[in-house]
Amino acid sequence: MEKTENSFIDPPNPRKDIEGLKPYSAPLEGRRNLLRLDFNENTVGASPLVIKTLREISKNEISIYPEYLGLKEKVVETLIKQNSSVNINSSEVGIFNGVDAAINAIFHAYGDSNDLMLTTSPTFGYYTPCAQMRGMKINSIPYEGKDFQYPFTKICEFIGQNNPKILLICNPNNPTGTRLNPERIIEISKFSSKTLVVIDELYEAFTGDSVLPFVNFQKTPNLVVLRSLSKTAGLAGLRIGFAIGNSKVINIINRVTGPYDVNSFAVAAAFAALTDQSYIDSYVNEVLKARNWLKNVFEKHHIRHHIDGGNYFLLWPKSHPKQVEQKLKLSGILIRNMDEKENLKGSIRVSIGTMEQMKRFWSAFKVIDKV
Ligand SMILES: Cc1ncc(COP(=O)(O)O)c(C=O)c1O
Repeated sequence: MEKTENSFIDPPNPRKDIEGLKPYSAPLEGRRNLLRLDFNENTVGASPLVIKTLREISKNEISIYPEYLGLKEKVVETLIKQNSSVNINSSEVGIFNGVDAAINAIFHAYGDSNDLMLTTSPTFGYYTPCAQMRGMKINSIPYEGKDFQYPFTKICEFIGQNNPKILLICNPNNPTGTRLNPERIIEISKFSSKTLVVIDELYEAFTGDSVLPFVNFQKTPNLVVLRSLSKTAGLAGLRIGFAIGNSKVINIINRVTGPYDVNSFAVAAAFAALTDQSYIDSYVNEVLKARNWLKNVFEKHHIRHHIDGGNYFLLWPKSHPKQVEQKLKLSGILIRNMDEKENLKGSIRVSIGTMEQMKRFWSAFKVIDKV
């Protein structure tokens, strides 16, 4: 029976899998005027060509539903230009509202209740909630040793014994920076053709370890590669990413997305960003220069660090990570406290930007942690 006018009525119940789900912790508000070294974004902004293109978008473009014509071809052309061994065609590319949306769609399309998702820990935080949303079981194998080696043997054994439905490999891994040789990934994908092996290559530009030059998706149809324009091209706020894999797999993943999930601004910006590849390359080079400089500084001061992979590093300060995080924020610098992440006790994660920005970080950190 309906309650009286003044009593509160409970809203309808969500699905059981959603009821216990913890919301994914996304960046907080109020980051705009600070040096943002907390979410591995591009720290200098998108290319001038991207900005010009966005400024020129007409009223008409905004009132019409987005068009994607030619974008997949542009992605293929760019990937082949970067490495002539890449052998893909446009039917093997899917366009998504950021790689987050691609990950969610992959789980939606392939993850059934009680299926197994295999991954490593610690790793990017969005894989687990996506698996939980589908009611999947999750198995995370820890990185090995003090330098966070990929647990290759254990992963292969687990696949052999349990046939997981989805294996997520973040290469290089966020947050440990662990690198995995692409040829080993191909080996892993051969262990079980029933396992969809998803390679999250968000930070590949900073290592050059892509699996794409080594794969033929017709022969290895259980492999999917994820790429985004968030981190290198500086389009995180526009949301655009790609899934690259066997055309049947891409077709399946696209079935669970809306027809216009990627907006016209993101499409226009993506065309411009891919056209101005030299801007991305020079930003990546600047980050790599800063990464080398930091590595030397940490070695010189005997500070425990891990800086092998992407545009970020782990650092173990003498003081509590929470205090370091708070004090750096007072100096206008945002970083991430990793103290509560599995195997990362006592650490912080810091994104790498330009040399100038890293020098600013180091000057502030030195004083805070009494180096
Ligand atoms: C490893 C990894 N994968 C995926 C994403 C999400 O990327 P996008 O901005 O394209 O959704 C992130 C963002 O931090 C990430 O670190």
